[in-house]
Amino acid sequence: MTTLALPRPRRDSAIEGMMAKWYASNTAEMMKEYVDLARRIAGEVPQGSAVLEVAPGPGYFCFELARLGRYEITGLDLSRTFVNMAAKKAAEEGVKVNFQQGSASNIPLPKNSFDFLLCRAAFKNFGRPVEALNEMCRVLKPGGRGLIIDLKGDASPREIGRAIDEMHLSGFNRFLTWLALTTFLLKRAYTRAQFEQMLAQAGFSSFEVAESGMGLEISMVK
Ligand SMILES: C[S@@+](CC[C@H](N)C(=O)[O-])C[C@H]1O[C@@H](n2cnc3c(N)ncnc32)[C@H](O)[C@@H]1O
Repeated sequence: MTTLALPRPRRDSAIEGMMAKWYASNTAEMMKEYVDLARRIAGEVPQGSAVLEVAPGPGYFCFELARLGRYEITGLDLSRTFVNMAAKKAAEEGVKVNFQQGSASNIPLPKNSFDFLLCRAAFKNFGRPVEALNEMCRVLKPGGRGLIIDLKGDASPREIGRAIDEMHLSGFNRFLTWLALTTFLLKRAYTRAQFEQMLAQAGFSSFEVAESGMGLEISMVK
């Protein structure tokens, strides 16, 4: 395998304050994506399973999954704003999800704890991505499965445009989302080859990287 240059480790940066509030209201407009993803995962992961979402932000996927069955769900995010926001909403809606603050590259949870793990639209933000993969592997039970869904580093403007159309966002949010995706988010995102290189350094027994529109879906098994 050719060795590619990976970005240098950088400081973790959580989404806090007003930015977190904007993200929560913007993504609330695309709730169908979270509902569809939760249905898909509920179809694959048996009831009673322990599920971790790494970097859940406002927690929408966790809420939708919790509504679909008896899962033990934990959400771990670096952002105090998001952890407080999501925990408050869980209490208001009577949904059982344990939201905790912490970093993906130093997960404050015991090894071999989870049957399934999701990380959506967040991996490119992690300051130490290889450590985050190692930590994901550590907290999964042997045979446990992880799924990372994220923007691909070489997504074309046409793929991004098509994905934004499918989000059905209102005018200004549509523009801001397009701006963020085509500028700093695309710059941070990893290509398939970069993911394969990083995954080869983590301890999973197998992994697969698949392309899907402007994104990548990475399935890992411990
Ligand atoms: C774009 S949001 C995605 C939220 C959610 N997964 C979704 O699909 O809407 C990215 C999230 O990653 C979190 N984050 C960034 N770096 C992190 C890290 N090192 N560990 C844990 N969470 C992190 C941010 O605080 C934010 O909540």
